[in-house]
Amino acid sequence: MTSLTIPAEHVDWRTKGFLQPGAPVAFEEFAAARHQLFGGPFTWPVMVARESALKHNISALASFCAAHDLAFAPHGKTTMAPTLFQAQLDAGAWGITAATANQVLACREFGVPRILLANELLDPTALRWLGDEIGRGMEFLLYADSVEGVAAISAAAGERPFRVLVEFGHRGGRSGCRTVEELTSVARAVTAAPGTELAGVAGYEGGLPDVPAAGAYLGLLRDATAELSKAGLLPRDVIVTAGGSAYFDQVAEQLSGAWLPGHELTVILRSGAYVSHDDGIYTQRTPFTRIPGSLDAALEIWAQVTSVPEPGLAIVGLGKREAPYDAGLPVPLRLRRRDGSVHPAGGLRVTDTNDHHAYVMVEGPPPRPGDLLCFGISHPCTAFDKWQVIPVVDDDETVTDLIRTYF
Ligand SMILES: Cc1ncc(COP(=O)(O)O)c(C=O)c1O
Repeated sequence: MTSLTIPAEHVDWRTKGFLQPGAPVAFEEFAAARHQLFGGPFTWPVMVARESALKHNISALASFCAAHDLAFAPHGKTTMAPTLFQAQLDAGAWGITAATANQVLACREFGVPRILLANELLDPTALRWLGDEIGRGMEFLLYADSVEGVAAISAAAGERPFRVLVEFGHRGGRSGCRTVEELTSVARAVTAAPGTELAGVAGYEGGLPDVPAAGAYLGLLRDATAELSKAGLLPRDVIVTAGGSAYFDQVAEQLSGAWLPGHELTVILRSGAYVSHDDGIYTQRTPFTRIPGSLDAALEIWAQVTSVPEPGLAIVGLGKREAPYDAGLPVPLRLRRRDGSVHPAGGLRVTDTNDHHAYVMVEGPPPRPGDLLCFGISHPCTAFDKWQVIPVVDDDETVTDLIRTYF
């Protein structure tokens, strides 16, 4: 079992969502106090993570991967939270995926045993550091989709070679070679360059609009891998990696199993958003709408009604600095009146946000200033990065732990 190095942290006046003047309080001490969310040292808005939902989601994806013989490298950029990395590794994850050199550096500091940089990297400074770390035994993979990329990696190689995944993309998508011919020429460049070795093929289907498109693209990724094998470019042990949180059923359908004769194949899934799930786009897009299983939304932001200035409108102290707005606005879930009674937030809808305000349209009895609203979020990746410390709550709203993020 890997035991990560998790920095000792404390809560103080710098910690958004906490009202902690004076001397800093260590995380362990804070968690041991078992504060209630309401009446504890918190100030609105505050984003919390539901413990039961995090546990459920981590176990759901671990079971999915085990059932389909997938290795799992959850995308770390979603949370950048070593306590969640630890929980994912404890549940059997193979390693952690990163998006940038800085995230790789953070993962390395935490002691993550295997790091998959699911991205091209051409920065010589970062590559030189990586070359040295690989020489010191770091298990690391990264992408290339151009001969320039391969040359940059090769130039930074140290004693041990970089293990490179050639990236296969799709038209209208992000990076990745668009044709098998291009993929083959980049793969040839990897095998020819000093200090690089070809580890396999990578793709990402998360930007595609629907299941048939994702399935078709992943089928092409499989065929492209088979072509590289036919060309004699792939080693015996091959890695194929794909997968976010929207189409992991398609990854299993298209890429699980023994479809690459003559090779030991490891298929690595990279879902990240699944860990907290959401009340927005991922609720709509999760494969668990199509296959048995479920995820629970873990993130909730509690914010206070500060003004009810005209009929049909409530202003709430929650804005772009606190809640994601790039893939859907916050979703009102529950209303907590000043007397402590909690009601479903029926008839409430967020129509816009400013830096620190949300415009909530009200149909029906309006909330009053001082009431609290609990919001779900849409898009976990742009929620976690807005909060350095996230209280973990149990089902009685008792704070049992704190999650520190490192973006
Ligand atoms: C290359 C890559 N892999 C995996 C993921 C994880 O996808 P998700 O956030 O849907 O879990 C992402 C997310 O953007 C990504 O860019």
